[in-house]
Amino acid sequence: MTSQPTPSKGQGDVPLLSLVTPEERYRVMIESIKDYAIFLLDVKGRIATWNAGAERIKGYRAEEIIGRHFSVFYPEDVVARGYPAEELRRAAELGRWEDEGWRVRKDGSRFWANVVITALRDKAGELLGFAKITRDLTERRRNEEQLRQSEERMRRLMDAVEDAIFMLNPQGQVTSWNGGATRLLGFHATEIIGRHFSRFYPIEGISAGEPERELADAAAYGRIEREGWRLRKDGSRFCANVVVTAVYGMSGDLMGYAKVVRDITERNQLRQLQYASELAARIEATREDEKKRIARELHDDLGQQLTALKMDLTALASSDAPRDEDECNALRLRAEAMREAVDHAIASVRRLAAGLRPAVLDDLGLLPALEWLVDDFRQRTRLNIEIVSNAEDVVFNDAGSTAIFRIVQEALTNVVRHAHRATMVQIELICTATMCDVAISDNGSGIETTLDAQEGRPSPSGLAGIRDRVRRLGGTVVIGSVAGGGFGIRLSVPRETVEVPGLS
Ligand SMILES: Nc1ncnc2c1ncn2[C@@H]1O[C@H](COP(=O)(O)OP(=O)(O)OP(=O)(O)O)[C@@H](O)[C@H]1O
Ligand SMILES: [Mg+2]
Repeated sequence: MTSQPTPSKGQGDVPLLSLVTPEERYRVMIESIKDYAIFLLDVKGRIATWNAGAERIKGYRAEEIIGRHFSVFYPEDVVARGYPAEELRRAAELGRWEDEGWRVRKDGSRFWANVVITALRDKAGELLGFAKITRDLTERRRNEEQLRQSEERMRRLMDAVEDAIFMLNPQGQVTSWNGGATRLLGFHATEIIGRHFSRFYPIEGISAGEPERELADAAAYGRIEREGWRLRKDGSRFCANVVVTAVYGMSGDLMGYAKVVRDITERNQLRQLQYASELAARIEATREDEKKRIARELHDDLGQQLTALKMDLTALASSDAPRDEDECNALRLRAEAMREAVDHAIASVRRLAAGLRPAVLDDLGLLPALEWLVDDFRQRTRLNIEIVSNAEDVVFNDAGSTAIFRIVQEALTNVVRHAHRATMVQIELICTATMCDVAISDNGSGIETTLDAQEGRPSPSGLAGIRDRVRRLGGTVVIGSVAGGGFGIRLSVPRETVEVPGLS
């Protein structure tokens, strides 16, 4: 351990320090300082003392530099225009001279220096020389330069983006403004910086307290996104998407808000167009559905009635000419019945036009309507038709009752048209707690041809319609030959889709 006292030593060194003269203490202190070059110049500017900091910063050792003129630390061009001497002159005149600039090390490399030159005078005011303190600020300058460059890059970037980007202070006054903001909102930075951002809101937004709420929400949630009307400088409106982010300082306190505003007028128009075209597609699909439904109603209602009428007419055509009054009367009665059937068909057409729903359902309800239907078939055919149901207390909704009625009707018509040798039809309508099952089966010949291999006629829509109706009710259906050899249709639909809730 060296006995030399140094300022950084602990308490134990105090007695040693006290042994030396005050002048010696200063000398030791200054010579030891490494962060600053501290030295004296004589009145002519020649170097008289040197310290550790000077050696570190400038690269000369004391014995190399003492006695030389301090202009060796300056770049040549600066020396050429007499600047070092000028500095001394000013220091002498003002007492103290401070400057920043490039200086040169022994190895010729440059560093950025902060220089303070203080004139030293004796009690009589006579100039003794100068104290010079130099700090190497190269690192700081580099950092500053980097910061400046990165800020510059940031500014260019911000100006290049289309979106309006600006900052607000916690009170909502604009503190920065980019090129996008000028383009979008019409204000130049100089016009808007310092003004409150509520300037961009239409009057109704301001009276609804939107600007304040926006900042409060951003402060509460960190980041918020809004869409709404905003105003340009010229008073015109645009539809904006706004993102506000609260900006916090190192210590966690709110420094302000960053706002990004985007004009979404075009996007909105596009969205509206898209919506309109989706809507058109939906309307088209609904219309298509409706057409299908009407076609099915025509087939199921009018088609069935005309089939029945045709059967009657065929029977009439093949019957013999009336031979007496009684046969004439019978014929008249049949003609009367057919006229009624035609009336019925006309009524059906009216009903179709009116509401596309069999009136009997509205008048009677599903089960009685089925009884009525079955009676009608019984009268027109020799079929023995039986209905089994436990659904007397179930209140079916419109969609459910129409669908089941039409399905049974189509099935019975098919029996009449296709089920050769059928004598019996069994109709079941059984509801459990969750499902309603419907089955229509006959004891005919069952299916004779494959369902889609029938030539020379439009593709049948009866069974397809049944499948479609069941699908719409969210149910399942099985169609085909049954165990006993006849033909059957079995379907099962969720009870909740066919029942009026809470009424049964
Ligand atoms: N009960 C049945 N017994 C035997 N075959 C049947 C029965 N029901 C339907 N079919 C057969 O299924 C085919 C398809 O029936 P579907 O009801 O779809 O058409 P369609 O009755 O022939 O014509 P429409 O479109 O007028 O109803 C019928 O052509 C028939 O061959
Ligand atoms: Mg059919």
